[in-house]
Amino acid sequence: MIGIIGSGNVGANTAFFLAEKGVDHVLLYDVQDGMAKGKALDMMEAAPIRGYRTTIKGTDQPGDIFNCDIIIITAGAVRKPGMKRDALFLENKKIIEEYAEKITNPAAKVLIVSEPVDLLTTLFASKSALPSNQIMGLGGVLDATRLRYLIAKELSVSMENVAAQVVGRHTDDMILLKDYCCVSGISLDNFMDQKKIDELFEQTKQAGALIVDLAGRASAYYGPSAVAVELAEAICRDTGRVLSVSHMLTGQFGISNAALSLPSVITKTGISKVIEPRLTQEEIDGLRSSAQIITQTLKEAE
Ligand code: 2OP
Repeated sequence: MIGIIGSGNVGANTAFFLAEKGVDHVLLYDVQDGMAKGKALDMMEAAPIRGYRTTIKGTDQPGDIFNCDIIIITAGAVRKPGMKRDALFLENKKIIEEYAEKITNPAAKVLIVSEPVDLLTTLFASKSALPSNQIMGLGGVLDATRLRYLIAKELSVSMENVAAQVVGRHTDDMILLKDYCCVSGISLDNFMDQKKIDELFEQTKQAGALIVDLAGRASAYYGPSAVAVELAEAICRDTGRVLSVSHMLTGQFGISNAALSLPSVITKTGISKVIEPRLTQEEIDGLRSSAQIITQTLKEAE
């Protein structure tokens, strides 16, 4: 059973994608009474045509979610046009602190979608009794997915043939790794000059904000939902997908006590291995300054 906290755009769409892929049964919860049940009912009434083999249920009791083995946290405020993700921290930290205390199922794998994801993942891991490899945030994998789309569009090639890698914070100072972006194994600079690469990197950094500006009221949710489902499926099916997720580092690049995205092997246990790609000194320095911002922000918020 996959539990989803928050039945807004991201939560409901994550449930929808999970049903479409038949990953596992889903239990939706929302703090607004009736919201989760209503959305679950609406989606299940599509099941006769969509052919769902798994079920989506809704509950008004958060305790029902806490027994799930995979818990996806999507609740909280979202950005408005012109806002930076970090501006959501003080408002959304209360939700994370509450769930870090209440989610005690030792088998639970917790996926954090709420923003700012690296700060909230660090906070959850620091307050939770769960092992830190069972707590991960959607960070670099969302940015890498967007970069894959932009590269494929630019080159008019299939997105399936494009790989991309993004590490660090899911903010403007995310670190896009050109050396690990390729098209069918062929490195990016075979296809475009540095100016074009920089352009696509900047578009990736601004992708989330652009969607907020275009949508006006909503933040992105199809991309985040698709990523949440990729992670949930990797855990459910023990696939060993290698995805750049935000999690508490344990000494990688000399960093600990801060959640940042690094490529990680995702299995039924959660993060089973963290990969440390070869980075330039500038990229390593970027990771370290991101870690400092996270630890400093949390200290100030205490
Ligand atoms: C994004 O990048 C919601 O922060 C998320 O769209």
